[in-house]
Amino acid sequence: MQENKTMNETKNSKDQEFLNRRGFLKTTSTVVGGALLGGLSIERSAFAAGDDTLKIALIGCGGRGSGAAGQALSTKGGIKLVAMADAFKDHLESSFNNLKKAHPDRVEVPEDHRFVGFDAYKQAIALADVVILATPPGFRPIHFEEAVKQGKHIFMEKPVATDGPGIRRVLAAAEESKKKNLKVGVGLQRHHQIGYLETLKRLHGGAIGDIVAMRCYWNGSTPWVHPRAELEKQFGRPLTEMEYQMRNWYYFVWICGDHICEQHIHNLDVINWVKNGYPVRAHGMGGCETRKGKDYGEIFDHHAVEFEYADGSRCFSQCRHQLGCWNSVSEHVIGTKGTCDVSSYTIRGPKAWERRVKGDPDPYQQEHDDLFDAIRNNKPYNEAENGAKSTMTSILGRMATYSGKIVEWEKAINSEISVMPKVFAWDANPPTMPNENGWYALAVPGVTKVV
Ligand SMILES: NC(=O)c1ccc[n+]([C@@H]2O[C@H](COP(=O)([O-])OP(=O)(O)OC[C@H]3O[C@@H](n4cnc5c(N)ncnc54)[C@H](O)[C@@H]3O)[C@@H](O)[C@H]2O)c1
Repeated sequence: MQENKTMNETKNSKDQEFLNRRGFLKTTSTVVGGALLGGLSIERSAFAAGDDTLKIALIGCGGRGSGAAGQALSTKGGIKLVAMADAFKDHLESSFNNLKKAHPDRVEVPEDHRFVGFDAYKQAIALADVVILATPPGFRPIHFEEAVKQGKHIFMEKPVATDGPGIRRVLAAAEESKKKNLKVGVGLQRHHQIGYLETLKRLHGGAIGDIVAMRCYWNGSTPWVHPRAELEKQFGRPLTEMEYQMRNWYYFVWICGDHICEQHIHNLDVINWVKNGYPVRAHGMGGCETRKGKDYGEIFDHHAVEFEYADGSRCFSQCRHQLGCWNSVSEHVIGTKGTCDVSSYTIRGPKAWERRVKGDPDPYQQEHDDLFDAIRNNKPYNEAENGAKSTMTSILGRMATYSGKIVEWEKAINSEISVMPKVFAWDANPPTMPNENGWYALAVPGVTKVV
């Protein structure tokens, strides 16, 4: 990250800070201009008026959103959580109570700044300088587009979409965010983890020669599940299908993208980082072998994919949600002059090296420290394009396992097949409905169309 030096040389760091701030506001308002866009909203804010307090809004008040808000509130300088939005009131209230307890002076979200429902995001975004987008990924393109339209700085969780049309929306909004000089962080926190940064620096410096093959894994157990009967008992009423799927989002492709997107994206993103590029095609196989049942929606419990990069090198990838099996969350690369276990920061070969340091900063905190430093000091910072293309890599993998075919990146990213619902309402039908026995249909390799 380079500091933006747009001003005269200055005598001391205080002057420099002041001038950077002036330069930032000037750049933002010049680039943005229009009355409804980012320049004006930033100029109107307390932040621009001389008070350095940044106002943040949290959209998606679940586990990660609450964690990310806590990390944002732990960055240096004046900062306040001023607005929250969630599809569900119960989720919002529990997140609010926990955040208020942990950060009593930095959480000021009155009742009329707590928004609930599918459209809640718009009102919360309007009240902030910086927004945290942490709903499940199906909604990310819609929320990111709106935050960019409103000219806000953004931290958004990975994945950033669940299909090709969603990725294209994110890429278009990413271009717009660059024009508006908005700072955008994406929750692929390995990019802010010292061990990964040190290892990647060595790989890119040629420590193992040319990289010819890669392997990566997210093999683990099944995440949380909320059976319909339990939810109906808890709320004392039947749930519409939309509410049921929203409360069990992990198991539905339109909201989650399948676990190859949800979790394995981290490993695939590291491989893209190692290669400084994205795959050109993929093929693979997957299915649902052990996690069967109507509580588990429509996703697979395993995927094994071979990704091909432009130079012909291949990445062999696996992700699995099956109990009692070999587990690993890791990335490995093979070069012409050595090998590397990226995830344990170990290089073997003539330039052998390993990093064994205890007490490295928490990457979840570091990614927020870096983003807020960039916002306050107008440093270049925009992770949206990589976030979109690494998400696309995982969607490409899902397309390969669902279809059983070789799927080309270009066809996949330009696919017109949308997995998203046409209408967002509690009584609207999601794209996948259960059959009369309550079971959901899964993709059938060789039959399912993905592009
Ligand atoms: N970077 C990481 O290591 C990491 C770790 C965990 C989760 N995540 C990501 O964070 C995101 C959220 O995951 P989570 O574990 O917090 O899930 P969660 O279920 O705990 O929270 C999601 C919240 O979003 C709300 N929501 C859903 N749709 C909404 C909408 N349209 N508008 C407003 N709110 C909506 C839900 O009600 C819920 O409160 C996912 O994309 C996940 O991949 C990233």
